[in-house]
Amino acid sequence: MQSKTVKDSRVQLSQLMGPTHANNIGNVHGGWIMKLVDETGALACMRHAQHRVVTVAVDQLMFRQPIRLGDLVTLTAEVSYVGRTSMEAEVNVTAENPVTGECVHTNTAYVLYVAMDDEGKPIEVPRLIAETEEEKERMLEGEKRQEYRLTQRRRIDSAGNHQKADRK
Ligand SMILES: CC(C)(COP(=O)(O)OP(=O)(O)OC[C@H]1O[C@@H](n2cnc3c(N)ncnc32)[C@H](O)[C@@H]1OP(=O)(O)O)[C@@H](O)C(=O)NCCC(=O)NCCS
Repeated sequence: MQSKTVKDSRVQLSQLMGPTHANNIGNVHGGWIMKLVDETGALACMRHAQHRVVTVAVDQLMFRQPIRLGDLVTLTAEVSYVGRTSMEAEVNVTAENPVTGECVHTNTAYVLYVAMDDEGKPIEVPRLIAETEEEKERMLEGEKRQEYRLTQRRRIDSAGNHQKADRK
């Protein structure tokens, strides 16, 4: 299977925030941004894997600035780390006021996906070629983030097993 670079699968998606995206205090509802983050990350990973993907884990998602109605939201996703069947995407979100041109970075999120074959089973994905120093560093950090997620999964699984045993 041929390895791929980060730029081979980079995705950029822009959307104008209108009244349907509002929360009850007149800014953009965070749920819309979470959906767009998930979709943009999934697109980058689908491009990398050339398979459908499912979302497995979303790391901390922090909203540093409110996004206003009328802003142009732009999401950029890059594959930051790959395992055997799993891939992590880094998704960056900016909000631009198209009248003033002011543009703020509102979020960075890391989302983990797994590529699926036609039978719905995890399938191997191409290796990732990190070309720049930044990409190389991010890939090492991605490996650590993945180790942490798997530790969390083991904790949750063992808590679930204890609960099942208590109910017996
Ligand atoms: C994704 C899924 C098929 C993985 O099933 P599984 O039995 O854990 O399969 P595996 O153990 O072979 O894991 C597949 C990969 O996912 C990774 N993985 C699974 N659970 C994970 C978790 N909680 N955190 C991080 N990675 C995880 C594994 O490390 C493995 O990666 P690798 O192949 O790169 O080493 C299963 O968890 C699933 O169907 N989840 C629901 C997905 C979904 O419906 N998402 C929401 C809607 S899109």
